Amino acid sequence: MAAPRPLIAGNWKMFGLGGAVDEARQVAAALLVKPAKARVAICAPSTLVERLARAVEGSSLIVGGQDIHAEPSGAYTGDISAEMLADAGAKMVILAHSERRSVYGETDAVAAAKAKAALRAGLEPIVCVGETLAERQAGRTLEVICGQVKGSLPQELAGRAFALAYEPVWAIGTGLTPTLAQIEEAHVALRQAMVDALGEAGRAAPILYGGSVKPDNAAEILQVRDVGGALVGGASLKAEDFLKIVRAAG
Ligand code: PGA
Repeated sequence: MAAPRPLIAGNWKMFGLGGAVDEARQVAAALLVKPAKARVAICAPSTLVERLARAVEGSSLIVGGQDIHAEPSGAYTGDISAEMLADAGAKMVILAHSERRSVYGETDAVAAAKAKAALRAGLEPIVCVGETLAERQAGRTLEVICGQVKGSLPQELAGRAFALAYEPVWAIGTGLTPTLAQIEEAHVALRQAMVDALGEAGRAAPILYGGSVKPDNAAEILQVRDVGGALVGGASLKAEDFLKIVRAAG
């Protein structure tokens, strides 16, 4: 099966006021001048999604969100649904990021319910998995991340557009990254876990690496076997840095 087109997705987390729209505009403009080999997305805070979608309209830059509630509507103060995010112009959504798992107690079952909700609204989910430092030190990395795949990917994803993101918790925002061999070991195991979970359809989705991806390490990470792109936090906030990572994908 042909390798899926790489995906470079920025995760702005809880950063960005109105002025940040200009960073997205710069990324979109650069992609118009020189199209990228990868698909490129920015997953912004909900408050910016609609403004970003308008600002980059007509470009190839995909606008996404960072979380959804599993229900289409209801008395869930403070939450937004997949339908609302899509209505605001998002095409993609990050789900079960480790910050959601650790700070808000999101389980694999919640991740799976949200993935179904994303599909229901026509959003492409990026489902995140990753081990903590304690789990890695205990030699449990593959067991943990493959278990998360099993629990977080519903059958409904088979044949649909989605991505998996491998983000070692200890590498997020720390400047630490696994060795290339450790990344390869995890991604090869995750590919098999996806096939176990979804059958042959598990081969179609890209597996992104995330955790301290920067302009100076992106190229070597992106050429690792079974790495199909990157989920980029801090380095996605400035167009110049993010574009360097986009170009590192070819
Ligand atoms: P980082 O974050 O690139 O700042 O390490 C990645 C992420 O949390 O998605």
